[in-house]
Amino acid sequence: MSFSLARLIQERQADQYDLHNKYISPHMARVQQIIGFDKIYTRGEGAYLWDADGVRYLDLLVGYSVFNLGRDHPAVKQAMIEYLNLKRPTLVKMDCPLLAGLLAEALVKRMPPGLDAIFFASSGADAVDTAIKFTRYATKRPRVVFLDHSFHGLTLGTLSINGGEGFRKGFEPLIPGTAMVVMNDLEGLEKELRKGDVAAFIVEPIQGKGVYIPEENYLPEAQRLCRKYGVQFICDEVQVGLGRAGKFLCSEHWNLEPDMVTIAKSLGGGYVPVSAVIMRREINNKVFGHLKRAQVHSTTFGQNDMGMAAGLATLHVMDEEKIVERSARMGAKLLAGLAALKDKHEMIADVRGKGLIIGIEFRPPRNLGLRAAWTAIEAAEKGLFTQLVVMSLMRDHHMMTQVGGPGVNIVKLLPALIIGDEEVDAIIKAFDTIMDETKNLKGRVWATSGELIKQAMSG
Ligand SMILES: Cc1ncc(COP(=O)(O)O)c(C=O)c1O
Repeated sequence: MSFSLARLIQERQADQYDLHNKYISPHMARVQQIIGFDKIYTRGEGAYLWDADGVRYLDLLVGYSVFNLGRDHPAVKQAMIEYLNLKRPTLVKMDCPLLAGLLAEALVKRMPPGLDAIFFASSGADAVDTAIKFTRYATKRPRVVFLDHSFHGLTLGTLSINGGEGFRKGFEPLIPGTAMVVMNDLEGLEKELRKGDVAAFIVEPIQGKGVYIPEENYLPEAQRLCRKYGVQFICDEVQVGLGRAGKFLCSEHWNLEPDMVTIAKSLGGGYVPVSAVIMRREINNKVFGHLKRAQVHSTTFGQNDMGMAAGLATLHVMDEEKIVERSARMGAKLLAGLAALKDKHEMIADVRGKGLIIGIEFRPPRNLGLRAAWTAIEAAEKGLFTQLVVMSLMRDHHMMTQVGGPGVNIVKLLPALIIGDEEVDAIIKAFDTIMDETKNLKGRVWATSGELIKQAMSG
C-alpha cells in the first residue's frame, strides 16, 4: 500500500494526546488538559482554527507569530507547490543559490541604512546565536549585555542572555560574562558599556514576554551609548518584526539604525522555518574575512530553496495586501477598544502594545471578597488569575491566547495581521464579558479556580 498522509491522519488523529503523553511530553499534554486546551484541531485557515467537531477558534497566538499572514495563505502555498513542481536542486552547498540571493536582496531593501549583509538560518535562536558569535568575533570583545525580562530563544547561547530566572535555572554554567540591565535605566547600561569589553547590547524593541515597551527615549539613547563605546547594537525582531508591531521592523517606531537585526518566524510564511541576521557588511567581512574562513559559520539548512521561496512569497504578499499598514490600523482599533475597558473594569491595570502585539495586565480588585479570591489563586501560583481569563476566552469565546510570560498577570494577544473589524469587535466584546463575569465570585470565570489551585499546589 502506498503512503497516504491523509489516511494516516484519519486513522490516528484521535491518538495525538496519547502519543505525546507517551513519547514527547506528558507534562505538556497534561497542561493542555488542565486548562481545557486539549482540542483536536483538524483545519487552519486565515486567522482561525477548526476542531474535529467543526468548532471555529480565533487564534490569537498564531504559532507565536509564525502565521502573520494567516494560515494556509493561498499565494504562499502556491509558491510552495510551484517550487516542488520545478524540481530545482536545493542545498547543493558548493554553489551560491539564486533564491537566497534574491531573498537577501529583497530584505536589504526593507532594512534601515547600512544593513546590507545577510546570514540565513532556520530558527530565531539560531539567528541570535549567530549575532552573538559575529559581534564577539568582529569586536574582539567577549561580553553581551541584555535586558531584564528579555527572551531571545532557549539554546545555550540565547539562554545566556535570557532575562527570566525560570528559564535559566539549573542549566548553568551558561556563556560567561553576560550582564543583565534593566529597561529604561540608561545609567546602568552605560556602566556596563563603559567597561570596554562589551561586544553587543541586544534588545527586543518591544519585549515579547510581558509586552513591555521602553520609554520613548530609551532605545535611541541606548543606540547612542553603543556607538559611543564601540558596542554593536542588535535589535532582535524575531517576534515583533515583519509587520507585527505596525511597522516592517518594530525598531522603525524610534527610527533606530541598529548594527544587526534578527528576524524569523513569519518569514517562512508559516510553511518553512527561516531566519536571518541582517548586519553591516564590515561585521560580515570580519567574520568571513579570508577565503579560508568562508565556511567558519554555517548551518545545513540555511539558504534552503523552499525557505527562500517562502520568504520571497511572504514579502510579496506583505506588499500586495498592505500587511504592515493593516497591522497598524487594526492594532490601533483593538488597542483603543481594549483600553476603553479600563474605565469599566478596575481589574484591568494596563493595556499596551503597538500594531498587533498587545498585552492586557490585571491587578487585584478592591472589593474584599474578590480580593480574597485573587489572593488565594495568586498565592498558589503567580499569574494564575490570568490563566482563568485565558481559560474563559477559550471555553466561552473560542479564542486561543496565553499568559504573557512566567508569573505575570498579563494576557498577550498576537492575532494574524489579516484580522478585520469582525475579529477586533469580537475580541473587545469577549474581554468585556469576561471582566463583567469576574465580578461574580460564583460566576463562570472563578468556577475553575479551585481546580487550578489544586493542580498548582500539587506541582
Ligand atoms: C524575540 C525572540 N527572539 C528569539 C526567539 C527564538 O526563536 P525560536 O523559538 O525560533 O528559536 C524568540 C521566540 O519566541 C523571540 O520571541
